[in-house]
Amino acid sequence: MPSYDFVINGEPVTVDVPGHTPLLWVLRDTLGITGPKYGCGVGVCRACTSHIDGAAFQPCTTPVADCAGRGVTTIEGLADGDTLHPVQQAWIDEDVAQCGFCQPGQIMAAVALLADHPSPTDADIDALENVCRCGTYVRIRRAIHRAAGA
Ligand code: FES
Ligand code: FES
Repeated sequence: MPSYDFVINGEPVTVDVPGHTPLLWVLRDTLGITGPKYGCGVGVCRACTSHIDGAAFQPCTTPVADCAGRGVTTIEGLADGDTLHPVQQAWIDEDVAQCGFCQPGQIMAAVALLADHPSPTDADIDALENVCRCGTYVRIRRAIHRAAGA
């Protein structure tokens, strides 16, 4: 079995899995990191959105072999110890979540958006493709504007 080394939430890891295994499977089933959610498995719903080398990506469609030597961040790695990331705090302040299933991916997408657009327009926010079947889009928009102003 091949082995792959990468950094997850600041910690080096080595996994022994076939190289074509989707990273989402490795995160959830091998490493027990369950913040990234399995929704569609084909890169559409974005419930699994995480960051690789600082950019948003979908681990459900990323083979683990493509992650070798790279840095992956999931929702579990966003806070600074006990201090929430400003986007996480804005999510709480705006009471965004309903069932919560899509929310780790929504937050990770929002963090990446704000890195590229520190003062995003409504159109920038509405261009995010993360699906929320509970329809929290209005509160997501408010939370992103709140985080941008924080
Ligand atoms: S589970 Fe990854 S995009 Fe849907
Ligand atoms: S909060 Fe339920 S799917 Fe988004």
